[in-house]
Order: sequence, then C-alpha cells, then structure tokens
Amino acid sequence: MMKGVILAGGTGSRMYPLTKVTNKHLLPVYDKPMICYPLQTLIDAGITEIMIVSGRGHAGHFLELLGSGAEYGVHITYEIQEEAGGIAQALGLAELWAGDDSVTVILGDNIFQDSIRDDVSAFTGGARIFLKPVPDPNRFGVAEVKDGRVLSIEEKPQEPKSDLAVTGMYMYDSRVFQIVKTLKPSGRGELEITDVNNEYIRLGEMVHTVLGGHWSDAGTFDSLIRASLLVQQQKKEKMQE
Ligand code: DAU
Repeated sequence: MMKGVILAGGTGSRMYPLTKVTNKHLLPVYDKPMICYPLQTLIDAGITEIMIVSGRGHAGHFLELLGSGAEYGVHITYEIQEEAGGIAQALGLAELWAGDDSVTVILGDNIFQDSIRDDVSAFTGGARIFLKPVPDPNRFGVAEVKDGRVLSIEEKPQEPKSDLAVTGMYMYDSRVFQIVKTLKPSGRGELEITDVNNEYIRLGEMVHTVLGGHWSDAGTFDSLIRASLLVQQQKKEKMQE
C-alpha cells in the first residue's frame, strides 16, 4: 500500500513577518491555504492514508483546517516535529505509522499540476524523484542525468550540472527510514533529503519522472506570488475548457 506524507515543519524564516503569527503552509495560494495543494495531489493519486508533519507552533491550526480528512474522503494523521532538523528528519517521524508500506512524500510548500496517479500505481520499490527544468536551478536540489539515469544530486550547487530541479515530491519504499537513521547533519545543520536520494542512487534503485506540467515552490515571497498566479491561470483555463 502507498501512504502519503506532507512535510509542513520548518521555521518559515524566509517569509518573516508573514510567518510571525501563522504557519507558512497556511498562507493563501490564490484561493486556498498552501497545504491544500499537496494534499489534493495525494488525494488525486488515490492515496487515502495521509500524515501531516508540522512544527509545534501552529499544529492545532492544521487540525482545525483539515480535521480527520473525512470531508476529503481520506484519513489524516498528525505528527509533530519539535525542531526544524531538516526534511529527512521530519520524514523519519512517520516511521512507525508507515510500517512496511511505501510513502509518497510532498513538501508542504510545493505545488504541482501533474497527476502522479500512474507513478503511484506503478511503484514497486526503491525510490522515484520528480524533476523539472527551471531557469534558477541553484535554488534547489539539482539532478545530473545521463542516458536516462540520475547519476547524482547536489543540494543548491553554485555551479549546477543541469537545469533539472529535484522537486519536493518523492516516492520511497519502507527502507527509507533505515537510511534516514544513517544521515549526518549537513552544513546547514539539517538531515537532508538529498542525502537520502543519493543513497538510493548509490544502491542503483532510483528512477525519475520529468514533470510535464507546472511546478512551483511557494516558500519565498516571489515564488509565493508566482504560485498564486499559476493557480489563478489554471483555474481560468479550466473554466474555458
Ligand atoms: O522545493 C524543492 C526543494 O526543497 C528541493 O529542490 C531541495 O532539494 C530540498 O532540500 C528543499 O529545499 P528548501 O531549502 O527549499 O527546503 P526548505 O527548508 O524551504 O523546506 C521545504 C519544506 O520542507 C517546508 O515547507 C516544510 C518542510 N520541512 C523543512 C524543514 C527544514 C519540514 O517539514 N521540516 C524541516 O525541518
């Protein structure tokens, strides 16, 4: 079975003062709170068991917003990341809940247009990442791809080896939780998801999808407004269909 995890911890420091009294993932992206978008991506993929990991600051607000998940036809579980120790650390908190199941992980500030339903159905183990060509790859994890294989991923490289950003969506088998336990904090003091992905590459068990649709993070002032405009444009296009 495939379960879904939304990572909505972190400090939101890049978005201060917008994040002084609320959580980044509750800020509006056009007509909905940010976290509703990754949630919808998981729901559209047919995933019904979903965990939201958040910091303790505004955890109750996620519960008030989304409740049990019943109104979306899914079951939502909540977990608390006490300190912003990194994306991989936040994922590690889902270990007991995930058990032997695989997980699709989405960062709470990532907004995707593509459906991942087929990738979820086709998943049999190992790991899958989702890449997107971008004009500013040095803001992201960047994948080096050769002959259809990912050779390496570098986190925010000064000299990117390609324009392929590693988006904030990942599929892993349950071995991911053992890998997280082997990680050491990076230069920025966090357990990095890029290190998890490089371990799957080393094991020869990483595949990738290049996304055809729009993708944006919404974790900076500029990307937040861009994400809102993207959603607005998509809504208009849908109305015209
Ligand atoms: O947006 C995609 C990028 O996200 C990837 O290309 C990078 O490889 C990946 O490291 C990540 O980069 P960022 O530096 O943008 O991640 P950030 O620290 O902004 O965290 C993104 C989300 O992850 C945040 O909205 C909530 C979650 N998070 C983050 C941290 C540091 C947690 O749940 N807990 C955490 O401790």
